[in-house]
Amino acid sequence: RILIVDFGSQVTQLIARRVREAGVYCEIHPFNRVSADSIRAFAPKGVILSGGPASVAETGSPRAPAELFTMGLPVLGICYGQQTMCAQLGGSVESGHHREFGRAIVTQIAPCTLFDGISSANAQFPVWMSHGDRVTVLPPNFRVVAASEGAPFAAIADDYHHFYGVQFHPEVVHTPNGRELLSNFVHRICGCAGNWTMKAFRAQEIEKVRAQVGSGRVICGLSGGVDSSVVAALLNEAIGDQLTCVFVDTGFMRAGESEQVVKVFRDRFNIRLVHKDASDLFLAKLAGETDPEKKRKIIGATFIDVFEEEARAIGGADFLAQGTLYPDVIESVSFTGGPSVTIKSHHNVGGLPDRMNMKLVEPLRELFKDEVRALGRELGLPDDMVGRHPFPGPGLAIRIPGQELTRERLDILRQADTIYLDEIRKAGLYDVIWQAFCVLLPVRTVGVMGDSRSYDYACALRAVTSTDGMTADFYPFDMAFLGRVANRIINEVKGINRVTYDVTSKPPGTIEWE
Ligand code: XMP
Repeated sequence: RILIVDFGSQVTQLIARRVREAGVYCEIHPFNRVSADSIRAFAPKGVILSGGPASVAETGSPRAPAELFTMGLPVLGICYGQQTMCAQLGGSVESGHHREFGRAIVTQIAPCTLFDGISSANAQFPVWMSHGDRVTVLPPNFRVVAASEGAPFAAIADDYHHFYGVQFHPEVVHTPNGRELLSNFVHRICGCAGNWTMKAFRAQEIEKVRAQVGSGRVICGLSGGVDSSVVAALLNEAIGDQLTCVFVDTGFMRAGESEQVVKVFRDRFNIRLVHKDASDLFLAKLAGETDPEKKRKIIGATFIDVFEEEARAIGGADFLAQGTLYPDVIESVSFTGGPSVTIKSHHNVGGLPDRMNMKLVEPLRELFKDEVRALGRELGLPDDMVGRHPFPGPGLAIRIPGQELTRERLDILRQADTIYLDEIRKAGLYDVIWQAFCVLLPVRTVGVMGDSRSYDYACALRAVTSTDGMTADFYPFDMAFLGRVANRIINEVKGINRVTYDVTSKPPGTIEWE
């Protein structure tokens, strides 16, 4: 395993992704939580120091623990990580004169294990740089391996101690050989075997869950989304009969999705599943409400009430299983919030653990989203469940803005949505789009169908690309595709006579309309 010390770079998570893609388990620890003791306790085969926004020249800027360099462990410093390593080992770093951002060309000067199979002496290759400071004097024992115009020490090595540094960012896709470089570090320099696979993770995690839970009873909230589905399938394999899944059906799911959840988990996995159709209750609670925030609050509170009632009905449980993922767990390095670090803690079933006083089982805490998908496939979940687009907890209820929710409106929206997604799949676009859905608009417009006048709803189509949902761009469909979708919706869905396409990016828009 590899330890990544985070100095607050925007792309530290990408280092972890690349290392794991090389089949090596790794964790990101914020620099202010790393000590010689914590490194020994984690027992890594190597350490990567990330980039970061600080300047080594500033007083009080972050450092790696001094003992790190006496532990006999290979160290790779990236950008700020390289600079602090050099400063700590007796070199010099200069502030601000040679800023380099974006693409740069690096020339390899001397052979180095880091570049095995990538480049050779005198060869040039493109990298991605983003730095204001640079190393100007190397510490003792270091040699120059590669240089760029703005960074004479673009790559450096102390072969005896296995210390390496790169000024550029090997973790980003804009450094085409970066993946191989990181793979060389973890395999050839640190000697990691590269056998961390989803198959291995599955076996290891099943043992962990058994050890944690013992003979206790576990309750798991199933939503039909990827994360909770994978948690349920994994726990089923680990503890079988001690698990009960509760699926609170709000009535706001897409067409066929509730049925699929029940079919897959009850029939195929033979999991004890409580399917509570609470759609009447949710609609009653939301009667007359059109304010987006109030709707979310009502849905959240109703969900918790129903879940608690179902949990009581089965006699309670000792543990609550949740699909918390690694990005929710990583403590981000904060330079503005004083000594405390910001902890993002996002729960799929918000508020439940506190109210129900149960211990948590979170078997996906160490995984990134696409690793969760790979684990889901490994566990035998259907592809269309594992590869599903994100879907908000309040579901279709936040896709009917400006008017009261009724079964009729939900049905109209559901039919349009089914057609839209069907055409997206047929066009082979489902996997390149982050999220796509219809919005039923609170306007009626005049149309003519056959010889009659129509006066029906307008519907908006939304499709965005994104990598994390934080920023997004509208998907540039061709007009023929949009025309085909509009035609089908207007012809097949009674109640809609006009279709529009939303071309707003995020920011300034958001992905959902509410
Ligand atoms: P926005 O609309 O904020 O959405 O750009 C970003 C991502 O979050 C999802 N989303 C929600 N998910 N409860 C959820 O569980 C919510 O209330 C909610 N609102 C938005 C949205 O679908 C997108 O993936």
